[in-house]
Amino acid sequence: MQQAIAVLDSGVGGLTVVKEVMRQLPQEKVIYFGDTARSPYGPRSAGEVRTFTRQIVDYLIQFNPKMIVIACNTATAVAIEDIRERVSIPVLGVISPGARAAIKNTRSGIIGVIGTEGTIRSKAYEQELRLISPNIQVFSEACPLLAPFVEKGLFGAESAQAIVEQSLSPLIGKPIDCLILGCTHYPFLMETISSVMGPDVRLISSADETAREISTILYHHDMLATSGLLPIHQFFCSGEPELFMTIAQNWLKEQISITPVVWQVPNIL
Ligand code: DGL
Repeated sequence: MQQAIAVLDSGVGGLTVVKEVMRQLPQEKVIYFGDTARSPYGPRSAGEVRTFTRQIVDYLIQFNPKMIVIACNTATAVAIEDIRERVSIPVLGVISPGARAAIKNTRSGIIGVIGTEGTIRSKAYEQELRLISPNIQVFSEACPLLAPFVEKGLFGAESAQAIVEQSLSPLIGKPIDCLILGCTHYPFLMETISSVMGPDVRLISSADETAREISTILYHHDMLATSGLLPIHQFFCSGEPELFMTIAQNWLKEQISITPVVWQVPNIL
């Protein structure tokens, strides 16, 4: 099936999912939307995030995608059911793949979760983890500074160490053996997070797991791309395109072009 996979996020975070899709499924075309004009979503209300997610999906649906991937934990936590009712194609979020991977990897049954304020407040990971394994113990921590830091393109900067240490300090010393990176922006900081948490804590990137699940869904629905031609991906962002493009090209190691989108609706509801 030659239609694209539509992927959305508040900004550059969903590119961590896209990178894995490109690696695992090189024949698949991706249409990506980063809502950089309204990023971060983390501090926004659930209603606001739901409205923004709906607007992006309505925009992406004009390209007739075969699947929608909500590559944003904050939006998945509050909007996935709404989007599933709205469209008739498969819709995948990032929370269940991440939760399943953590359950697979934990030995102690004690798992840490980091995410935006919105994701942590929603308790979506706790619910998903306990649905699979009721006795699991969860330590959750909101890290409101991290996604905006990544969005500024600073993940390679020296200051990353201090901001990650500060954000993760409540989890240091907790008996967790797995830490779910419950925000798609966090894999940009993977090395720093890993050095702060130490070698005994396994990091679970919902981005990797989501890409694996996309592949499974497409395979089971007989929807995998078959053309053999390398796809030309499309990228849209609602904010300033230059920084988005620099981050995207460095991360994906590919030249891309960006189409800016100007919302005809207010940025704050
Ligand atoms: N990348 C997003 C997530 O996974 C959102 C970060 C934000 O905009 O606050 O939650």
